[in-house]
Amino acid sequence: MIFTVAIDGPAAAGKGTISRALAAEFGFAHLDTGLLYRAVGAKGGDPELAAQNLSPEDLARPDLRSLEAGQAASRVAVLPAVRAALTEFQRRFARRPGGAVLDGRDIGTVICPQAEVKLYVTASAEVRARRRWLEVGGDAAQVLAEVRERDDRDMTRAEAPLKPAPDALVLDTSTMTIEQAVTEAIRIVAARSASSTTA
Ligand code: CDP
Repeated sequence: MIFTVAIDGPAAAGKGTISRALAAEFGFAHLDTGLLYRAVGAKGGDPELAAQNLSPEDLARPDLRSLEAGQAASRVAVLPAVRAALTEFQRRFARRPGGAVLDGRDIGTVICPQAEVKLYVTASAEVRARRRWLEVGGDAAQVLAEVRERDDRDMTRAEAPLKPAPDALVLDTSTMTIEQAVTEAIRIVAARSASSTTA
């Protein structure tokens, strides 16, 4: 069975938690594509070469979830050569047998426009910054500024900008608990997978 769930959206919207829950619920493989860009940014040197030569150790670095790694990721993510070097791996992952959930910025628009389910998970910048602050701590105003700066860079770049695919379902989690958001996402995927197996 080939079945892809594409989850896109801005920083700290809840994509990671929702993706992991969907993968566990339906037995799909999960790829956090942000980690690829974070690893390229953290590696330093020529970003294109870094993207072409990512190793499992690069993806296992303990510092990849930091604010700095997020900023470095969004700076290398504007480079077409970096995106091109990571595309094939993500496309193959998306169509692997047994089902896959990928979360990122351009999964439903560029990596896998044929995905069976496309979700655009979002929330207000204030809510997202508060969630990120609860994870990483530090200065709350700086976390909000960082979230806004990264959103702006991700949404305005020329190559694969962050935006909902025309046929994506938008899930605004601003006033939802994470449990509510997960329940809603599971309901959407279950409905779609039932209709695609009976079609
Ligand atoms: O976890 P969070 O949503 O904060 O970020 P992430 O998903 O780990 O992504 C880090 C950065 O990588 C983003 O701000 C984007 O600039 C970039 N990225 C991208 O361009 N395309 C993707 N498919 C995933 C991430």
